[in-house]
Amino acid sequence: MKLEGKVALITGAGSGLGRQSSQLFAGEGAKIAVVDIDADRAEQTAKLVEQQGGDAIAITADVADKSAITAAVDQTVEHYGKLDIAWANAGVVSRGGVPSVAGGEQVDFEDLTEEDWNNVLGVNLSGVIFTAQAAVPALKRNGGGTIIATSSAASFVAYHQIALYSATKAGVNGLVRGLSLDLGPYGIRVNGIAPVHGMSPNFLMPAGSPVVGQSYEEVAGPWDPYVSPIPLKRNRPPSLVDNAKIALFLASDDSAYMSGQVIGSADGGTLSRVGMWFPEDLDQKNPNA
Ligand SMILES: NC(=O)c1ccc[n+]([C@@H]2O[C@H](COP(=O)([O-])OP(=O)(O)OC[C@H]3O[C@@H](n4cnc5c(N)ncnc54)[C@H](O)[C@@H]3O)[C@@H](O)[C@H]2O)c1
Repeated sequence: MKLEGKVALITGAGSGLGRQSSQLFAGEGAKIAVVDIDADRAEQTAKLVEQQGGDAIAITADVADKSAITAAVDQTVEHYGKLDIAWANAGVVSRGGVPSVAGGEQVDFEDLTEEDWNNVLGVNLSGVIFTAQAAVPALKRNGGGTIIATSSAASFVAYHQIALYSATKAGVNGLVRGLSLDLGPYGIRVNGIAPVHGMSPNFLMPAGSPVVGQSYEEVAGPWDPYVSPIPLKRNRPPSLVDNAKIALFLASDDSAYMSGQVIGSADGGTLSRVGMWFPEDLDQKNPNA
């Protein structure tokens, strides 16, 4: 078991990558603080972890609210006695970034408001900073630990309609590099994961939608291995688990001497996604709807 005896706090763990990773990390022996702004989703993830024989608590917090995420870290330490892994994973797409086939509105860059920017900045970058700030005292008391931040392929390459999102994720990469220098002497490693394929369609669905629990590509099927930038010819589409396993590598001692890096997962990250295929009938394809 790669995380035996470890305590991991994961934000945005009510859905997608965070939920999948909560289950994966718990299976590797970690106790999980499942943090999400959506209380029901957090409860569901904690229940899934418990059903597989793991240990989890659900905490409702908005990562854009520094006092809320600080309280979440405090609650985790109070409950489990320590913190080893803090993963700032919660993220939202900026307004105008949802494809029209998925019900999104197209918004010209000059029409994006200050509120739009503050929303995406608050969750995607301030939320990562606040989560790390809240975690560092506990990690120092612990004698070290690991911080992970979820970035995106959009921090490396361009995608239409999500320039604000890309800016926040590029900021995450800079934060990872800078913090790794400052926190290394305390035994705290800081790394990022920048997913490309195998990610959650919930990300582009309205808040509160039923959690799909599969990747875009799994939902879309049948899988065409040549649709991806790096055509890994496997007989299955990329999945949330493929990304979660990269996060597990970053969380575990397998990456004990690695810090300040942002890994493109799954199947690349430095190449542009050919297209994020989003089926018009996603609701009908959603096995959990
Ligand atoms: N899905 C993608 O296409 C994709 C691609 C690359 C990177 N990412 C990044 O991966 C991370 C995880 O996203 P996902 O794909 O699992 O999406 P998701 O929508 O399935 O899950 C994100 C979770 O974060 C929660 N959340 C949103 N705002 C929050 C806040 N302010 N405080 C606390 N929780 C909040 C949501 O309720 C949701 O449960 C995000 O940082 C996202 O930017 C996603």
